[in-house]
Amino acid sequence: MITQVLVLNGPNLGRLGIREPEVYGDASFEDLAELCRSTGRKLGLSVEVRQTDDEAEMIGWVHEAADARMPVVINPAAFTHYSYALRDALAMRTAPLVEVHISNPAARESFRHTSVVAGVADGTIAGFGLVSYQLALQAIAELAAETPSAAEASAPGPAEPVQP
Ligand code: DQA
Repeated sequence: MITQVLVLNGPNLGRLGIREPEVYGDASFEDLAELCRSTGRKLGLSVEVRQTDDEAEMIGWVHEAADARMPVVINPAAFTHYSYALRDALAMRTAPLVEVHISNPAARESFRHTSVVAGVADGTIAGFGLVSYQLALQAIAELAAETPSAAEASAPGPAEPVQP
């Protein structure tokens, strides 16, 4: 069974390619989305990529993933540094969760050194440009192989052999 994965992106990431290209590169958000989908196909994952500038919408997507036991890769963008509401939503997760960043926040301004979501993720990948997402999807593929999905968890197991 193919694993569905949500790749969620926070504020201003829809502006990739235009936004501070010296920090975030020249690729557009659509380039990022296509890279995630094609990386997913190679890993046997069905990847859906979303972006929002709205905290409430992002939290709604995190609830949706938790209800569906769907693994998540999230670049919370600036929410990373201050959104306790997003952190609390992510803490309800029921499947693997990987935090990603295009840049390396630890090497930037001090307000970026704190991630309020890192503590509820399986791990964080930062600083490798768009490759961060490819590495995160690879991690999800490994973790998902160890964690049964909702569908698998509720599916009946193999039939018991019938005794003569
Ligand atoms: C970012 C890093 C954050 O500090 C910043 O607010 C972003 C992007 C990254 O991908 O490098 O919007 O999450």
